[in-house]
Amino acid sequence: MRIWPYPAIVAHRGGGKLAPENTLEGIDTGARLGLKMIEFDAKLSADDVVFLLHDDDVDRTSNGHGPAKSMTYAQLRALDAGSWFGKEFAGAHMPTLAEVRERCASLNVAANIEIKPCPGREVETGEQVAREAARLWNDVEPEPLLSSFSYAALEAARDAAPDLPRGMLYERVPAEWREQTAALACVSLHADHRSLDETLVREIKHAGLRVLAYTVNDPERARLLAQWGVDAICTDRIDVIGANFLEDAPK
Ligand code: G3P
Ligand code: MG
Repeated sequence: MRIWPYPAIVAHRGGGKLAPENTLEGIDTGARLGLKMIEFDAKLSADDVVFLLHDDDVDRTSNGHGPAKSMTYAQLRALDAGSWFGKEFAGAHMPTLAEVRERCASLNVAANIEIKPCPGREVETGEQVAREAARLWNDVEPEPLLSSFSYAALEAARDAAPDLPRGMLYERVPAEWREQTAALACVSLHADHRSLDETLVREIKHAGLRVLAYTVNDPERARLLAQWGVDAICTDRIDVIGANFLEDAPK
């Protein structure tokens, strides 16, 4: 099994539910609460800048409208990605991957870069995110962990940056998880925690893979998953499931 240098608790979308998702302010929040690893979603603008956004459209998490794939990064950057969450976050923007690298380095947090392509841009997004991640994090330990629900994106990432660790993401773990993770030379399998049980976790671990479970917001569930052998818990509730959660005695 390849070395797994990552912490047991990962902040979902930067600062979980405590800050606007996929912003520098979210990363600041995760780090301020002591988290040592941040998950975020990366995609391409129309002019091929890698930036952070979860949805295909900008509507839910900004004051803009429409599909991100048809907007240049200058247009995306001009949007307010903080006010929808709270007025204290007014003016937050959708950061570039380069800005995120700088913020992670200054806060000393590791990165799980989820490749979240706009529809139809799977291959080019996987390729460009992986290439940029390898360049930007080139002098950083631990290396960023790449993941994606898109097989095509992760395949392109593997070809562009074979040395970066990869995790295949599943909402429901399919029958062919062994073949897919082997073909992509994954170090980990990332799954919706509701699709995991003790037997499946054991099988995945026996196959030599680490397991990341998302999005786990119930402390009891987090403890149970850890007992099953899950290596990393991705959570919105960084105020409850903090960096030392698994070391602390059950409350
Ligand atoms: O990477 C884990 C998790 O972020 C996947 O789901 O929809 O929140 O990106 P989503
Ligand atoms: Mg994500």
